Amino acid sequence: MERLMESSAGLHGRSVLTLQEWTPNEIKQVLTTAAWLKANPKVAQIRYALAGQSVALLFELPSTRTRVSFQVAVESLGAAPVVLGWEDSQLGRGEPIKDTARVLSRYVDGIVIRCRRHETLQEFSRWASVPVFNALTDRIHPFQALADALTLWEHKRHLAGLKLAYVGDGNNMAHSYVVVGAKLGMHVVVASPAAYAPDPTLVQWAEKEALLTGGSVQVVEDPREAVAGADAVATDVFVSMGQVDQEAKRLSLGPYQVNADLMTRAKPDALFLHCLPAHRGEEVTEEVLEGPQSAVFDQAENRLWVQKAALLHSLGE
Ligand code: CP
Ligand code: NVA
Repeated sequence: MERLMESSAGLHGRSVLTLQEWTPNEIKQVLTTAAWLKANPKVAQIRYALAGQSVALLFELPSTRTRVSFQVAVESLGAAPVVLGWEDSQLGRGEPIKDTARVLSRYVDGIVIRCRRHETLQEFSRWASVPVFNALTDRIHPFQALADALTLWEHKRHLAGLKLAYVGDGNNMAHSYVVVGAKLGMHVVVASPAAYAPDPTLVQWAEKEALLTGGSVQVVEDPREAVAGADAVATDVFVSMGQVDQEAKRLSLGPYQVNADLMTRAKPDALFLHCLPAHRGEEVTEEVLEGPQSAVFDQAENRLWVQKAALLHSLGE
């Protein structure tokens, strides 16, 4: 525990916004701590690491995994979670983000926030004076990226050099893989139709970042090209929370379904990844989701461990 915290000096007080602001070594430190916590779940000192602290959990959008895993993570480190629905708070009646951020910062030691628009998170973090943890925006889902990196490491025992193919909507999960993959020296290929491609400015940033880590980032339209020889194949829902153009989007993403045929293009031991919730029969077939290559429940579990690790580093003594 002492050794753990010794090496986390640079992470104390840090927010997790997109992970673009984290160095590869900082990300690896959180992943190492997460793996250690998972292997040593009952270490007594950890249970009191954040004793006396409080962490607010503020959600503008629905959640099962993020809400429960953050609440359990906070409690299991000895801190008190304060769970707030957006509409139950004065935000629902129009209180400005900047006022809410400053008020909550006077009460709690950290704030976990899920919001519809990334700009809301940026505004919130600009005004908060305690660490802010991004629990998903329409741009990026950094804790899912960390959990998925831990899952890949558990199954493959290394990360640098792995090829990860993301197939489908160029959404917050596509962005998450692009960022974490570039940071960790992975080869990320995103296959999306042009109308739903990931943000080119983020891709350009990641291409440059990957030059420093030996990784690469590529965007293509053909899912078969993306998946060829991949170590992992990931996808996500065609229509994310809060999106409106549902039918047009479902139609143009139809050919991007991950099915058994597409999986045969990847390596025989390739993992299938999905952050969940999944829509069986749309972005993935039941056969793949429930098949032997699927690691989706490891991903879900690992949310807990990476979040405990990040909270410990950021809010611990
Ligand atoms: N993967 C994920 O973030 O799930 P929830 O929306 O249930 O939190
Ligand atoms: N892209 C999905 C991820 C859900 C965890 C969404 O934003 O709804």
